[in-house]
Amino acid sequence: MNHNPVFLALDMPRLDAAEALVRKVSGHIGGIKLGLEFFCAHGHHGVHELHKLGLPIFLDLKLHDIPNTVAAAMQAIHVLEPSIVTVHAAGGRAMMEDAKAAAGENCKVVGVTVLTSLDDDDLTAIGVKSDPNEQALRLAELAHSAGLDGIVCSGHEVGAVHKQWKDGFFVVPGLRLDDGKQGDQKRIVTPRQARDAGASVLVIGRPISRAEDPMAAAKAIEATL
Ligand code: C5P
Repeated sequence: MNHNPVFLALDMPRLDAAEALVRKVSGHIGGIKLGLEFFCAHGHHGVHELHKLGLPIFLDLKLHDIPNTVAAAMQAIHVLEPSIVTVHAAGGRAMMEDAKAAAGENCKVVGVTVLTSLDDDDLTAIGVKSDPNEQALRLAELAHSAGLDGIVCSGHEVGAVHKQWKDGFFVVPGLRLDDGKQGDQKRIVTPRQARDAGASVLVIGRPISRAEDPMAAAKAIEATL
């Protein structure tokens, strides 16, 4: 994997726009993250096209199904040579074990614990009695013991998780530069802080993709690392 830990999240439906953005910033990022939206719209063809730009690819597909189906899906994307693939830790131990066994040798399989869109009430509604923090810790431990490479976690959590799982591979989204543009309502974590706390990969989308000058934004982030 490239030295630059920044994976640019391409959360856009258009392939040409994604390619144009990557071309602009490609010297200043370490990889690209493609999510379900992109994969459903462009499939293998879209991933192949972006592969031509020469950067490692993170397929954020958040797979969650019976073990056999997830393993078959992992095998089906093997040809795309992803560096990182996500699965839902809530899919259970056997699903994670089989996902890891089916992944390519150079592919990190990373667990998603509790989506940040879910709060206490949402968890109660699906029968989970723990609060989101407790549930995330439980699923992180399960992912670890099932042999996954690491988990997705926030910049606030990564330090504590890293202490428990020393050689874990941690993917951290939701990062912002402390450039005074964030307002004062949010406690932000910067890419540098996340890196120092143990993040392996920094997922950054809008701070680069929506910047007036994406290359300058990517360079500014790179310079802090
Ligand atoms: O906010 P930003 O555009 O940098 O988000 C980059 C990526 O991180 C997006 O693909 C988003 O889905 C993901 N993300 C996440 N969890 C969060 C915030 C963002 O998975 N709490």
